[in-house]
Amino acid sequence: MAFDLVFFGGTGDLVWRKLMPALFQAYRHGTLPEGGRIIGVGRDDLSDEQYRQQIQSRFEQVEGDKRPNPEEFARFASLLCYVRMDLSKPESYAVLSARLAERTTDHVVMYLSTAPSLFTTVCEQLAANGLNTPKTRIVLEKPLGHDLTSNRAINVAVGKVFKEQQIFRIDHYLGKPAVQNLFALRFGNALFEPLWRREHIANIQITMSEELGVEKRGGFYETTGALRDMVQNHALQLLCAIAMEPPINVHADAIRDEKLKVLRALKRWTPETLSQHVIRGQYSAGNVLGHAVPGYREESGVSPSSSTETFVALRTEIANWRWAGVPFYIRTGKRMASREAHIQINFRPTPHEIFNSPVGHANKLVIHLQPKDGLELHLFAQGQSKRGEGSAGATLSPVHLDLDFDKRFGSQRVGAYERLLLDVLDGRLNLFVRSDEQEEAWRWVEPILRHWQNDTIGPRPYAAGTWGPSASSAMIARDGFCWSEET
Ligand code: BG6
Repeated sequence: MAFDLVFFGGTGDLVWRKLMPALFQAYRHGTLPEGGRIIGVGRDDLSDEQYRQQIQSRFEQVEGDKRPNPEEFARFASLLCYVRMDLSKPESYAVLSARLAERTTDHVVMYLSTAPSLFTTVCEQLAANGLNTPKTRIVLEKPLGHDLTSNRAINVAVGKVFKEQQIFRIDHYLGKPAVQNLFALRFGNALFEPLWRREHIANIQITMSEELGVEKRGGFYETTGALRDMVQNHALQLLCAIAMEPPINVHADAIRDEKLKVLRALKRWTPETLSQHVIRGQYSAGNVLGHAVPGYREESGVSPSSSTETFVALRTEIANWRWAGVPFYIRTGKRMASREAHIQINFRPTPHEIFNSPVGHANKLVIHLQPKDGLELHLFAQGQSKRGEGSAGATLSPVHLDLDFDKRFGSQRVGAYERLLLDVLDGRLNLFVRSDEQEEAWRWVEPILRHWQNDTIGPRPYAAGTWGPSASSAMIARDGFCWSEET
């Protein structure tokens, strides 16, 4: 299957940090379809050879065994070429058009890894140059707008040029192996499904914490913040994967229809829930992994009086038969105590206690997304009985079953971007987000943004290297629960 894959923003951070390494892994695994050409598009004046050298030097920063040796890179580099373009200038597109006309392919993928303000122009110009044929697929990287109106405007503009089946909206969390395993756990096994409901589940927690700060993205982050950057997309997609009804089959629209129903059932905000159930924070100077780090307001590109949130914790509910009354907690932040992403399903305690059990004892299932990729089922068992203790009076100890997918599947594991790029090349839309899902997510997030605009208090400070402001613990404690690290 011959393809041309065009990276708009071909000299940008995402291309060299994530996309090229992912393509190289696919190439190395022999899963990249043959006959491919990868075209970087950028404003710099580079020859094909200079572009290859630039990518090669960037590969030196890729971690250990994912880095190609010189022979491997030389083979991979033969797929790479470069087109210089100014995306805002219509005449630039003729150059790309000529380059694409050099050969016949089965598919052309246009990957828009650029500022979203260019999405509309690029799509219009692709159409004006006849580059929106039925064999074209378009990939859109987040952020897709900064609110519902701007998101809709992008969807409408792209929709004028491409059909929905040609549009691949990326949420890289959906490409993570653990998220695909969550679908397998829920819909490929009968064991948990009867328990997966309000009668058995006390609460669900989604945590996505990072040790890193905003790095060199201060300017971008100032206008984005954690709610737009992580909650509107990644966290809500995870929530959908946990809470959705079983789809009738694995086709993209069957899955996306069920996710959309979850988003529509999310409890609407009220002035009271907005003030009680949403906590925003901003990191101040602190210590991460033993190193002193500056506060957010000291980062480059950030205003010294910034009120951008680097942390969000919130509580919501899903108003339907399966989930009514079950709190879903979402928490994400930069410069936190550790880098982890996990989902914790906390089951209800036993209805009648006959053992001496640890305080607050209840089963839980933890789905680890990163750095570990696996499942932990927390149970209680009777260890060594003390003398004179009958089994009834015995004390239970927590134990857990630990399934480590990295160990189990080892090198066969495919990274998020590798998975998603291969799916685009195969035309599989299951792991991509449909426009109505995205719009519904914005609709739910917008009242929070409006509430913050009118709130003069601003985000609560938390020291870098901690689990966020104490208000986040207080919020969950009001329901009688606590975050995973507080157990
Ligand atoms: C991106 C956000 O979408 O996800 C970044 O823009 C964030 O701010 C990143 O760091 C986190 O992704 P991961 O896969 O490292 O958890």
